[in-house]
Amino acid sequence: MDDSALPDLGLSAREVLTTTRSVRRRLDLSRPVEREVIRDAIEVAIQAPTGSNAQAWHWVIVEDPAKKAALAELYGANADPYFEILSGTDSSQFQAIVDSAVYLRRHLHQVPAMVIPCLWGRIPDGVDNAMAAAFYGSILPAAWSFMLALRSRGLGSAWTTLHLGSEREAAEVLGIPYDRCSQVALLPVAYTVGTEFHPARRAPLDSVLHWDQW
Ligand SMILES: Cc1cc2nc3c(=O)[nH]c(=O)nc-3n(C[C@H](O)[C@H](O)[C@H](O)COP(=O)(O)O)c2cc1C
Repeated sequence: MDDSALPDLGLSAREVLTTTRSVRRRLDLSRPVEREVIRDAIEVAIQAPTGSNAQAWHWVIVEDPAKKAALAELYGANADPYFEILSGTDSSQFQAIVDSAVYLRRHLHQVPAMVIPCLWGRIPDGVDNAMAAAFYGSILPAAWSFMLALRSRGLGSAWTTLHLGSEREAAEVLGIPYDRCSQVALLPVAYTVGTEFHPARRAPLDSVLHWDQW
């Protein structure tokens, strides 16, 4: 597939930025995702900034069914107790997120691909906020760009971190050198069922703005 053959929804930058949602139920589990599409989205992602321009990222793409199943198992082991605590909440909006998250947990092994953004290095326990911000700030903008790039081409994902409760075991599944390399998320990748998504409801802007003074 050459670049001109890659799918493109033709969305404006603002549309991409405001309609890239956590997609779970609308991940198309039956449609394969071409490697070129994933490569292209990562090519976009690695335009993101990194501290000292270190570009210490690595991107692990998982298509192998046995490895996806192993990662989904690890994800579930961390997700299930958490969802148990969260379910039964009073808020219907929050309950909808939990239901959607439970759906993803049940179907995670079926996604066409998983992408795990990694950053070389590990931050020591008890590290101060400045170092933690510089560390994660050197991979999270890129990971979000990856999700935006997927959206622009008609694919979707959901930011997930629950498998990181078993990060060492996941590293063993994938051969990632755990002691020297940090996984920061697990992004399921699939075409979306339909391509229409809307901006989400958020707390009013003025409730979070502070001009010159908190
Ligand atoms: C740091 C972080 C970690 C998250 N971890 C998970 C996760 O492990 N599983 C999951 O289903 N959703 C996870 N989410 C998604 C949120 O629970 C929530 O659904 C999302 O922020 C709502 O996005 P939306 O407004 O696009 O629907 C995570 C989001 C963030 C930013």
